[in-house]
Amino acid sequence: MKKIAVLTSGGDSPGMNAAIRSVVRKSIFEGYEVYGVYQGFQGLINDNIEKLELGDVGDIIQRGGTKLFSARCPEFIDAGVRQKGLDNLQKYGIDSLVVIGGDGSYRGAQRLNEEGIKTIGVPGTIDNDINGTDFTIGFDTALNTVVDAVDRIRDTATSHERTFIIEVMGRDAGDLALWAGLAGGAETILIPEAAADIKAVAERIETGMNRGKKHSIIIVAEGVMSAQECGVELRKYINVDTRESVLGHMQRGGKPTGNDRVLASRLGALAVDLLKDGISGCAVGIENNKLVETKFDKIFEERHQIDRALYKLSQELSI
Ligand code: F6P
Repeated sequence: MKKIAVLTSGGDSPGMNAAIRSVVRKSIFEGYEVYGVYQGFQGLINDNIEKLELGDVGDIIQRGGTKLFSARCPEFIDAGVRQKGLDNLQKYGIDSLVVIGGDGSYRGAQRLNEEGIKTIGVPGTIDNDINGTDFTIGFDTALNTVVDAVDRIRDTATSHERTFIIEVMGRDAGDLALWAGLAGGAETILIPEAAADIKAVAERIETGMNRGKKHSIIIVAEGVMSAQECGVELRKYINVDTRESVLGHMQRGGKPTGNDRVLASRLGALAVDLLKDGISGCAVGIENNKLVETKFDKIFEERHQIDRALYKLSQELSI
């Protein structure tokens, strides 16, 4: 009988639990045994592996975080370290693995696939920075969390006629900042994929002030600079009273949105379907609302891109 293991790795994201549930239930539905690996690749090395039953994934679809815990495990790059994980999988007779995580986790998954474990990646990260899918699990929830925060900050920015600089996560990608900036009506969005011209930002704020506009929201992606640095840079060009707000890890928490739960359920089940069909060495995703799979090699070929049209629109609407 096929034995499938599932783990979550890297930064957690809302909807990972829904993805775990989907992998577990779909595996059992197909007549397979399924195992949970706790603490990501670290747990694989440490033999933190347990057989899961239907009831083990009950009451988690609505919860943020990950029931299987997560960890970053840079030493997994080392073949000797990985061998311990391979030995542990062999001990249980596990031949297939579903890795729910981001780009870094996919690299570990790719190595294991080359070393004989049939592996599928499921995109779980708030950063939305993975090729082979339009959306990652957790992005929609994080987006709504950020938009809610921006709305709240806007209330006080308006009352006090201040310029707020809000720092948003995303690592090297600007998706979260871009989407949240557009949805939150930010006057300025600074993302790594578009050169930050702080002088131009200052000039725009000044023009706005001259028109009677007294408050302003700047969203800065952490991949560009910190909110603090942005404030310092801005004040080189304009005398403005700024407040900086770093949203931080609250962006990774909270119950997943309906969209993230549905996406996680679809992608988790697809991962099992692929393993059933003997396909591995790839990650699942959604493109133009169609479920797809993409080989890991192809995913790593080039850097993830933002939606340029969306960026252009955000600029056109924030004049
Ligand atoms: O990849 C998800 C993410 O939240 C990034 O947006 C952020 O840069 C990073 O993880 C933070 O990592 P840690 O939780 O290890 O500080």
